[in-house]
Amino acid sequence: MLSQETINIIKSTVPVLEQHGNTITTVFYKNMFEANPELLNIFNHANQSQGRQQAALANTVYAAAANIDNLGAIIPVVVQIAHKHKSLGIKAEHYPIVGYHLLGAIKEVLGDAATPEIIEAWGQAYGVIADAFIGIEKDMYKKAEQAEGGWATFKEFTIADKVVESDVITSFYLKPADGKTLPAYLPGQYISIRTQIPGEEYTVNRQYSLSQASTGDVYRISVKREDENQPAGKVSVYLHNELNVGDTLEVSAPAGDFHLDTESNNPVTLISGGVGITPMMSMYETIAKTTKDRPVAFLHSARTRKHQAFDTVLQELNASLSASSYKALYSEEGDGFINREFLAANVLEGSDIYVCGPTAFMQVVINDLYALGFPADKVHFEFFGPAVQLELANA
Ligand SMILES: Cc1cc2nc3c(=O)[nH]c(=O)nc-3n(C[C@H](O)[C@H](O)[C@H](O)COP(=O)(O)OP(=O)(O)OC[C@H]3O[C@@H](n4cnc5c(N)ncnc54)[C@H](O)[C@@H]3O)c2cc1C
Ligand code: HEM
Repeated sequence: MLSQETINIIKSTVPVLEQHGNTITTVFYKNMFEANPELLNIFNHANQSQGRQQAALANTVYAAAANIDNLGAIIPVVVQIAHKHKSLGIKAEHYPIVGYHLLGAIKEVLGDAATPEIIEAWGQAYGVIADAFIGIEKDMYKKAEQAEGGWATFKEFTIADKVVESDVITSFYLKPADGKTLPAYLPGQYISIRTQIPGEEYTVNRQYSLSQASTGDVYRISVKREDENQPAGKVSVYLHNELNVGDTLEVSAPAGDFHLDTESNNPVTLISGGVGITPMMSMYETIAKTTKDRPVAFLHSARTRKHQAFDTVLQELNASLSASSYKALYSEEGDGFINREFLAANVLEGSDIYVCGPTAFMQVVINDLYALGFPADKVHFEFFGPAVQLELANA
């Protein structure tokens, strides 16, 4: 338990952190990687170099500090991050390393303004926040290990099949090298893959949504080749160009809290842009397998027909369901983007709504959904990168 005095100090330093948050976390990462370079095997360097991870960490620290006397209020955020941590195999022993360098960075950036009382208070607060993460993650690892065929962190998988789905998206069918059954996952969840790219000093980790309904013997991921911008995407290009059937990868147990509510029979609207289609495939297929009468609308936006994956299978699934609609818009073929009018006409009344796509796409779609009166607690979304703050109108 933190004393009232410590709580007061923490709360009064929130504005200072807001002012210096990103500088503190930048200094923190630099110092931490110098002292513990082995952590570069875990962190995503592309996210680091674009400052995205710094922003995500800073935002969480503000949220935790502002709620330090009522951490229960940020548990949903902690759980979402804990899923990401779990998929990367973050362990309890990593937390003191992060804490040591975070406090060091606060001291370094704030200088004399960081009095011993402030540092002591932040040390205590970090301990409380870290314990919340460690407790939730420990539970998640235990559950993952206890599931039938389950494992806690990473395990070796073999690429059993590689299928081109569109000009930019290719699927990889992954089977465990030990031949065991695979634990079931919730439709919408993701895995991390870990691999060593020849010539690279550190291993690389990336998350990929499972793009079909749970089968028990194979995990399918569908990866977009990210080579439009320079530098080209490291892992996606390596997967597309270098990895083939028979090659191995390390795979984490499924994680993530963006998933279809499989207990409910409520109508569902799935809205995706580009490769954001992958978690929707898993949700749609699950509905087709388990609740054929459940009303569902599948709304997708792609640049062109050649960019879009899974069109044929989507048409088949749509035809196999009794209350389904499937609509794809091709923005570069004259269809325009998914806009408010399209949403008003196609989102199912009272549905659970799932959104995934590029950040700009999600920003527009979610704001339009709110403007149309769909309540925030019905609108679920997933980022294909560190969670960033969307500029959303009040829901
Ligand atoms: C929960 C979740 C689910 C996901 N599901 C999927 C999925 O189903 N399918 C899918 O394809 N992807 C998915 N992703 C995204 C995926 O994890 C990777 O981020 C994506 O494949 C790109 O990785 P990469 O290594 O190819 O690119 P990276 O090397 O990570 O580069 C990403 C981008 O950053 C830019 N960049 C890299 N380095 C720098 C630099 N130094 N300066 C400026 N810019 C730079 C690159 O140009 C590129 O545009 C998911 C992500 C998350 C978090
Ligand atoms: C209380 C302490 C911590 C907080 C508040 C925190 C916060 C966060 C946040 C907000 C994210 C982004 C989540 C997202 O992508 O949606 C994240 C991701 C991540 N965290 Fe933590 N974290 C903490 C501890 C740790 C520790 C101890 C490690 C391991 C050394 C770690 C490693 C990572 C990694 C590797 C990612 C993925 C980000 C990437 O590589 O891009 N975190 N964390």
